[in-house]
Amino acid sequence: MKIAVYPGSFDPITYGHLDVVSRAAAVFDRLVFAVLVNPQKGAAILSTEERLNAIREAVDECCPADVAVRIDVESFDGLTVDFCRHREATFIVRGLRAISDFESELQMAHTNRKLAPEVDTVFFMTALEHSYLSSSLVKEIVAFGGDVTQMVPPAVVRRLVAPERGL
Ligand code: PNS
Repeated sequence: MKIAVYPGSFDPITYGHLDVVSRAAAVFDRLVFAVLVNPQKGAAILSTEERLNAIREAVDECCPADVAVRIDVESFDGLTVDFCRHREATFIVRGLRAISDFESELQMAHTNRKLAPEVDTVFFMTALEHSYLSSSLVKEIVAFGGDVTQMVPPAVVRRLVAPERGL
């Protein structure tokens, strides 16, 4: 069985991430969305629990049923390769949006391979219509009260417009 881990901050998940995961599901038997517990990229907009629940709902609502049943959603702390070993995954999935992603992704892929030679990284080119998207930009737009409904699934919108956030 080919198991792949799709690691990331997913703060929040975007349509770009969903596109990558749907396409990866055509290649792997099981895919694990692995949500990094403490992303270092500034203040998180969603807690780990909210990110996990948003991804679970987004997968159920946006992915075909035969894809959704093969996707798990879990959080992890520590090294991605250690989580891969824990899940017996031999592949890491990452999306590439543009050439600017390539340098850091190449470095991560080589580093992960050095740490765990049995785990290989597979890249999917994010679909053109989603290739401009980034979670960081979504966070900025939300902070200024902008509309992100074309960028993130409804499961995220529901959480971002929650009254307790003042939005
Ligand atoms: O969504 P992101 O922020 O682009 O994802 C980055 C992520 C989570 C894949 C990366 O930071 C990561 O793997 N972090 C876990 C710690 C680790 O394994 N570091 C070594 C990777 S080279």
